[in-house]
Amino acid sequence: MVLCVTVAGQDTTASSLSWFVYMMCKHLHIQEKIAQEVREVINLKDDPSVDELAASLDQEALNNMQYLHATLSETIRLYPSVPMNARMCFSDDTWPDGFSVKKGDMVVYQPYAMGRMKSLWGDDAEKFRPERWLDKNGLFQDESPYKFIAFSAGPRICLGKEHAYTQMKIISAVLLVNYIFKLADEKKIVNYKTMVSLPIDGGLYVKASPRLWHAKP
Ligand code: HEM
Repeated sequence: MVLCVTVAGQDTTASSLSWFVYMMCKHLHIQEKIAQEVREVINLKDDPSVDELAASLDQEALNNMQYLHATLSETIRLYPSVPMNARMCFSDDTWPDGFSVKKGDMVVYQPYAMGRMKSLWGDDAEKFRPERWLDKNGLFQDESPYKFIAFSAGPRICLGKEHAYTQMKIISAVLLVNYIFKLADEKKIVNYKTMVSLPIDGGLYVKASPRLWHAKP
């Protein structure tokens, strides 16, 4: 069980965080907005140490980070760490659209492609827009797992989904409150490596500079 949780939970969360940092570098205003949200949620007045900040991130605080939750979901929609998945048919069946499958057929579905389909996400499907996950009050609205398929759906849905969000929110909150991230080389093309998971090919090189809250006007 420990091996299962480690294998299922490590590379998936790690690559999602890499793509999240990449998206933050590409959208500096979103990076800023998340840092602000974290500070407001935990009511930060001074510049706390990393340890003090991490200690204040309890479950209630994390639940209140709606924009951060939306931004992580938007990252995983576009960069699902399981980009392709498959199921074996147990019996002959006819799907709602009339397509027939036979017992033993392998059916492959692609979260990477599904996350970018205009028929599912609208004309701006390829645009990174965390707001698509928020209602008019700024509260996170989850999607059906059959549409946001990155964690799979049904009886074999990812068991660690909530845990993954908790980990990713803690790490990204601590990082973004303390640092501003920029790409080390803006001209370098960032692409994925074709694998079972979706790591960034060659890794992601970034510059992190301290986010100086008190130096701001
Ligand atoms: C962003 C992070 C993650 C993503 C995108 C993700 C995605 C997935 C997907 C697509 C599956 C289905 C695999 C299949 O159909 O064979 C799955 C299964 C699973 N995941 Fe995750 N996962 C993530 C993080 C985690 C974490 C952190 C844990 C554990 C702490 C975890 C534990 C599991 C387990 C145990 C299964 C197997 C469930 C079963 O077959 O009944 N995952 N995950």
